[in-house]
Amino acid sequence: MTAVNISVIGGTGYVGLVTGLGLSEIGHQVTNIDIDQDQVNQLNSGNCPIYEEGINPVLKRNLASGRLKFSTDLESSIKGSHVVFIAVGTPSLPNGNIDLSQITEVANQLRLCIDTYKVIVIKSTVPAGATKLIRKILTDGVQGDRFDIVANPEFLREGNALADFFFPDRIILGGDSDKALSIIKSIYEPIIERDIFVEGIDNPPKEPYLVPVIQTDIASAQIIKYASNAFLATRISFINEIAEICEQVNADIKEVSKGMGYDSRIGHSYLEAGLGFGGPCLEKDLSALINTVNQDECETELLRSVLNRNDKQISSVVKKIERLLDKSIHNRTIGVLGLTFKQGTNDIRNSLSIRVIEELHKHGAVVQSYDPVVKNEILAIHANVKPCDSAYAAAENADALLILTGWKDFLSLDYQKIHSSMANPCIVDSRNLLNPSDMIALGFKYLGIGATGHDS
Ligand code: UGA
Repeated sequence: MTAVNISVIGGTGYVGLVTGLGLSEIGHQVTNIDIDQDQVNQLNSGNCPIYEEGINPVLKRNLASGRLKFSTDLESSIKGSHVVFIAVGTPSLPNGNIDLSQITEVANQLRLCIDTYKVIVIKSTVPAGATKLIRKILTDGVQGDRFDIVANPEFLREGNALADFFFPDRIILGGDSDKALSIIKSIYEPIIERDIFVEGIDNPPKEPYLVPVIQTDIASAQIIKYASNAFLATRISFINEIAEICEQVNADIKEVSKGMGYDSRIGHSYLEAGLGFGGPCLEKDLSALINTVNQDECETELLRSVLNRNDKQISSVVKKIERLLDKSIHNRTIGVLGLTFKQGTNDIRNSLSIRVIEELHKHGAVVQSYDPVVKNEILAIHANVKPCDSAYAAAENADALLILTGWKDFLSLDYQKIHSSMANPCIVDSRNLLNPSDMIALGFKYLGIGATGHDS
């Protein structure tokens, strides 16, 4: 593989950072560009703003090797690069559409810096029409073909992002230029050939086959990304609905998921019933997919119901607490364990924990919270939550303990101690993390999702 000079725009954000780290780790010369001077300085000194398994050693190693640097100087970085990855944010607008302002801003700046031929790679998740817009901005008033665009959607899961980058299930490349597609393929060569070992993260066994590369048109590449997230969300809403059915007939959702997953046509992934899907991606992408189509010509009833089902999980968890506390949670103290949208990350963007807390407040409850990696950040969203230093402090004198994130740390707590410190020892476990019979044996009233526990 030949090392390539690469710029990653949006280089301190989640996707940009992991992309830049990954590309430098496999041997390329990478500049991660961002407008946030403070984050750029922090990263250049080896301090990583995100909590992600294995990220610190990879960052430090690549800074030290000189293959990776962070910069706010877009113009000189772009002029020295052959390939430019765009990984800026594409947040949702209130109507569910995608806010493309960061992408268009970047395109406007790029237009002025493209001096020699470059491949522009779209990593950000954008609807197919956005690429036309980027192309239009880049060619505005400019003669000749100075660039090609390749859509290369990311499939990184927070908490597992480095492993997902280095050992992907597939690489999707959308574009109409064979030259550009072959440049990007050659950049990924060590990954495609599974010819890498990354120190500091779990490396899966080397497989004797190549990572599949799907070369397609831009619109299909972008729909592959949206459809994948929509499908994962659909599985989660599906299993949450089955969990509710389990509660009616006293079946155990964990057994049901296990039994279903052994069918090779179904598989075990994304069949864990719980609080639903949170975080910055699944809901946003599902809404965007629904909003990209003309509803008069294409009905998206199924996708809408996936979102509705997810919303329902919030109120259903609050109802479980009410059930354990004899209907009213007004003025009752609820200890909340877990604020991040899932374990393994410090991300609280669109965390369902935050929405549950909002619902608890609406019902007049008093909330004290604990999370292994997030503490006072919650105060910026809910000023009247009491952030605690430990799970024990969050449980103390509480009328109910509510597990909202599946952190493994919560498995090894001393639940005997928690039982004796609570005003009213009951647990609602919205991630089905604990063993119900152990909790019931300790004297807790316990409810999970999908009849994995019952009132003692
Ligand atoms: C998701 C996709 O999994 C990635 O492939 C994609 O690249 C990323 O979005 C993105 O578009 O950037 P992520 O949002 O990091 O990744 O998180 P997931 O691991 O997919 O989990 C999403 C939510 O679903 C979490 O709240 C999680 O707790 C929940 N979940 C997941 C369940 O409730 N049940 C499950 O069985 C699995």
